Amino acid sequence: MIDVDAIRECLDTSILKIQILPYEEVDSTNVIAKEQIADGADEGLLIIAEKQTMGRGRKDRCWHSPVGGLYFSLIVKPRIGIINAPLMGLLASCATAQGLRAIGAQHAYVKWPNDILLDFDKVSGILSEIVTVDHDSHLIIIGIGINQNSTSSDFPDDFAYSVTTVRDYLGCLTSQEGLLCHIINSFDNLLKMVESTNSFKPILETWKELSSTIGNRVRITDDSQTYIGIATDILDDGSLLVQTDKGEKIVTTGDVRHLRND
Ligand code: BTN
Repeated sequence: MIDVDAIRECLDTSILKIQILPYEEVDSTNVIAKEQIADGADEGLLIIAEKQTMGRGRKDRCWHSPVGGLYFSLIVKPRIGIINAPLMGLLASCATAQGLRAIGAQHAYVKWPNDILLDFDKVSGILSEIVTVDHDSHLIIIGIGINQNSTSSDFPDDFAYSVTTVRDYLGCLTSQEGLLCHIINSFDNLLKMVESTNSFKPILETWKELSSTIGNRVRITDDSQTYIGIATDILDDGSLLVQTDKGEKIVTTGDVRHLRND
C-alpha cells in the first residue's frame, strides 16, 4: 500500500495545498475526482490508486492499470482562463518527464500531446478533463498513469504502440512515493512560473526542451485524414505545427506517431 506519510514528508509545494485520498482499487481515479468535485472538492485534492479496473485514456481508450503502476488524479484550477486548459496538460507532461528524470530515467521525453516516452516507448499518459463547477467556474482533473514497477509482460501484446515500464528501463524497482513527490513538486514549480510571468510561455519552452516530437518525422492521424511531415514547433495554444509536402498543418487533436528520420 502506498505510504501516505512518506508522500507528505517529501512534498514541497507552495501553490498547491495537497490533500491525499489513497485507494487500493478504483474504477478510475478521474471518476473518483469527478465525484469529489461534485461533493465540493477543490484544487489540491490528489487521488491515488494502486490499481484501476476501468482506467481510461484519451479518446475513451482503456488504460491498462495493473498493480505496480502509479495512477493518480490531481484537481487543479485553470490558470489564465479555461481557454488555456490544454496547456495545463502540457505542464503536467513536463512535470512527469522531469519526475522520471529525477529518479534516473534520463531519457524521459514528452511526446505531443500528452504522452511520456522512455527512449522510444510509451511509459506514461495523461488524461486531463475539464469539469464545470458553476456556470462559469471550472476545475481541471489531471489524470496521470505511469507504468512504473509493472513489467512489459503485464501488458497485452496487441497494443497499438510500443510500451515500456520504468522497471524494465532502469532494471530495478523504484519508490512510488518518491516518483509521485518529484512530479507534484515539479508541477508546483511550473505553476509558479506561470503565475509569476502570467503566461504559459515558460511551459512551452520547457516542453520543447523535453520534447522528442519537435524535429521528428511524424504521422498524424485525426478523424478524417492521415498525413506525414516534420513537427516543427508548438504554438501558443499548445497545438502542433507540422510541415508537410502540401504546406504547414496545425494539429489540434489527433494521434501522433514518431517515424524514423531516415
Ligand atoms: C492516455 O495515454 O491516453 C492517457 C492515459 C491516462 C491514464 C491515467 S491513470 C490515472 C487516471 N485515471 C484514469 O482513468 N486515467 C488517468
